[in-house]
Formats: sequence, C-alpha cells, structure tokens
Amino acid sequence: MNATTTRRTLLTCAAACALALPAIGHAQAPIVIKFSHVVAPDTPKGKGAQRFKELAEQRTGGRVKVEVYPNSQLYKDKEELEALQLGSVQMLAPSLAKFGPLGVREFEVFDLPFIFKDQAAFRAVTEGPVGAELFRKLEPKGILGLGYWDNGFHIMSANKPLHVVADFKGLKMRIQSSKVLDAQMRALGAIPQVMAFSELYAALQSGVVDGTEGVPSNFYTQKIFEVQKHITLSNHGHLAYAVIVNKKFWDGLPADIRTTLAGAMKDATTYANAIAATENADALEKIRASGKTTLYTPTAAELTEWKKALMPVHKEMEGRVGKATIETVYKAAGFVAPK
Ligand code: LMR
Repeated sequence: MNATTTRRTLLTCAAACALALPAIGHAQAPIVIKFSHVVAPDTPKGKGAQRFKELAEQRTGGRVKVEVYPNSQLYKDKEELEALQLGSVQMLAPSLAKFGPLGVREFEVFDLPFIFKDQAAFRAVTEGPVGAELFRKLEPKGILGLGYWDNGFHIMSANKPLHVVADFKGLKMRIQSSKVLDAQMRALGAIPQVMAFSELYAALQSGVVDGTEGVPSNFYTQKIFEVQKHITLSNHGHLAYAVIVNKKFWDGLPADIRTTLAGAMKDATTYANAIAATENADALEKIRASGKTTLYTPTAAELTEWKKALMPVHKEMEGRVGKATIETVYKAAGFVAPK
C-alpha cells in the first residue's frame, strides 16, 4: 500500500466513522426506568428495588438505567398508580391492598385477616395459578405484573395497650385503601381512616389518627415506634407487594432487553422474598432495644378472641373480592378456619 492509498483508506474510514458515530451515540442513550415506591431504602422493598436496579444495569451493560425513587419522593400511594398508567413512571411496587382503586378488587383477598399461616402459604398462592390470574386482570388497565414481593405480617399499635378487642373501641386507625382492611377495623370496633403512607407519621404524631397496623420494617424506618406507646405483635394480617410496569413501555422494549430485565426481576424477587422475614425480625429487635414503646405478645386466649371478631370479615367480603377467589386462595394456601 503506497502513501496515497493509505491516506485515502484513512479518509474513507474517518468519513464512515463520522457517519456511524451519531448512530452509536443514539444507540447508547440508555432506556430509563423510573421505579417509584413509598417506603425507605432500608426495607425489604427498598432493597429489592435496589437489587433490581443493579442487576438490570449490569446485565444490560448500561443499556438500561433504573432510577429508584423511595419514600414517596415522586408520588404518594394513589398518585403513583395514576402516574404509572400515564407513563410518567415505568415501575412501582404497591402493596396488594392498594389495587382496589384500579377496580381490581380481587387483590384485596390478601388482606383478609389470618388468611395466611406463614410465608409459605402466601407464596403458594402468588407463585401458583392464582398469582398469574390476578396479574392478567391488570392488563386491561395498561399494567403488567412482574413479581410478588412478600413483606411479612402486620402488627397493631396505639397509645394505649391493645390486648383485647374492646381496647379498639372508638380508636381512629389508619389503613391502606382496602375495603377488607376497612371491614377488619370496623369488626374490631375501631374507626378506619384511609391515608397515604407518607402522611402516617405526622398523623400519628399530631393525633389525627390514634393508631395503625403495619410491618416492623416500616414501623422502624418511618419511626412510627417513636409516636406509638404500645405495639401488639398480633400478626393478624399480611403485607405484600406486586411489582408492576406500564404495559406499553414493557411491550415496546427491544426483545433482548425485555428478556434480560425479566431475568433481573426474577432474581430481585427471590432476593426480596428471602430477606423479608429477617429484615422484619431485625427491625422488631431495634424497636425493642430503643425502649421507646412496649411490645406485647397476645396470649392464646386473646388471639382466639381476635379471631372470633375478625373471621366474619371473610364472609362479609365475599361480595367485594368474590367467593370463588376466596375459596381458590384458601385451597392454595392450605387455609384452615380457626375454631
Ligand atoms: C402502607 O401503606 O402501610 C404500606 O403499604 C407501605 C408499604 O408499601 O410497605
């Protein structure tokens, strides 16, 4: 090759590269997934979201960027579902108690008191045909379900001891937007009040509400234990999430990216489910160690009384969540009605 040919080759290459560059630059602009949620980063959900981000970004070689917005930074409970449908965010993980306003009432079956005896019972439902069927019901709303994340059992709190059912009489109790939770509080003689999670601490502190139910990881990270003198370890209800995406966004992703993200979500789900129990146990220990509140374990007789008051809610809610749905969940969960 003489000098002229070399120069010509280089020039041709430079021209071709210059042409190619904008295309490469364009291809490298990452796809952004905004993942909004309402709890602290240091919770099972917060850590699950972070794990998904890391796996997604690493496995797509940076072609996808996941921006996690915790603590209702972007949107509160109800707004976040609207934002997802509008495409302002692409991913959320609301609790199953928050799907009612979307018109998918069947999700509230998960709020029935004492329906799951343990984590395995819950997972037998979500990882089987019932879980898949519920996700199908979201599709006409423009939403796709990617995974269920467990977050353990609810405890109950107020500024007075909550040992027997009569202790709830007239108390204003904050609930998530589930009609089953509304019926549950009424069955105890309390007055339920739906409120966004982000408003809970201030509402308890100022006395807008008297008490709440929730899981230890949220009680700890939102400092609820600092404004509630008494906590009862009732484990009467269960908290879990559905990780959901805007369907149009998901369907519009390049196929290879979608497959990679589905894999990342599968692994993040395994991780979130694996840490839920220990994270909540650790949070409970930290609450105990703070000395700022009393932790009370109900006696067997007290629990029997709670169950007696609460089990009629299952029947009462048949019209809301569907008798067939309740029965399918009973069967999958191995539910045995308490005597
Ligand atoms: C609540 O509102 O109490 C919970 O759903 C918050 C959460 O997402 O854990």
